[in-house]
Amino acid sequence: MKFLVLNGVNLNLTGKREPGVYGAETLEEINGELAAFVRARGHEADFKQSNIEGELCTFIQQAEGKYDGIVLNAGAYTHYSVALRDAIAAVSVPVVEVHMSNVQAREEFRKNSVLTGVCRGEILGFGKNSYILALESFLL
Ligand code: DQA
Repeated sequence: MKFLVLNGVNLNLTGKREPGVYGAETLEEINGELAAFVRARGHEADFKQSNIEGELCTFIQQAEGKYDGIVLNAGAYTHYSVALRDAIAAVSVPVVEVHMSNVQAREEFRKNSVLTGVCRGEILGFGKNSYILALESFLL
């Protein structure tokens, strides 16, 4: 199987921003570990990140027919991007929503996701392992 791990706005700063919340490892380091995890199980993954909402929608549109699953951490777009929700709904590729932090234990505005309803599922609160668990869910 081939997966797309897609990170949204501000996730490029992982390791530098709020390390107490998102950990000290960079996105590049985390992606390296995810690539090794997938490869060890005989699968493949591509990694993309963008701070631009429309670009994330384009990546999701282009995933059609190319990937078996998308692991998506949309960052703050999670909480209000109807455009991203529509992009997910428009493709047949299953999407698993992830968050490194437990958004349910944080500010009120983080508790709502406009994406979950069109995703296969949601994994949150396990740091970088949220990505691992999301990938694992495709392998069950
Ligand atoms: C996040 C949670 C979001 O609320 C926040 O805006 C992020 C990261 C997470 O991984 O915990 O940028 O998606």
